[in-house]
Amino acid sequence: MNDSGKVLAMASDHGGFAMKEFIKAKLIEEGYEVKDFGTFSEDSVDYPDMIHPAAKAINDGEIERAIIMCGSGNGAQITANKYPNVRAGLCWTVEQAELTRLHNNANIMSLPGRFVEFDLAWEITKKFLSTEFEGGRHIGRVEKINKLL
Ligand code: RB5
Repeated sequence: MNDSGKVLAMASDHGGFAMKEFIKAKLIEEGYEVKDFGTFSEDSVDYPDMIHPAAKAINDGEIERAIIMCGSGNGAQITANKYPNVRAGLCWTVEQAELTRLHNNANIMSLPGRFVEFDLAWEITKKFLSTEFEGGRHIGRVEKINKLL
């Protein structure tokens, strides 16, 4: 990764808190600036309360990419994808992170904080941040995502 100084958003509930802290420390070591939308402890919280502000920052173009977590990764991903300019992929393997960048041009990655080892979560994060959108036939597909019937 050569994105030193780049700002990333992070957010989680209590189910993703420990993973968020682990990944955040690694990102800072790599030179990223992290805007952390919480949560800030293991106390039980409602994941939308943290995910909405992070997703809004991506939606509004204030921050380019976000890494979010909850216990399963599902609630965080579902919340983030309510925003029209957000494409949030749920990733639990390195290949999924690569594919959601290559094919979906995902700008948010959701991780299952309770179901993935933290070292693997870091490998997944590095792949998400270092992979560019493939374009080509995927451009039209991504454009169709917001064309609701
Ligand atoms: C919290 O217990 C859990 O429901 C939450 O972290 C997440 O998995 C929801 O989708």
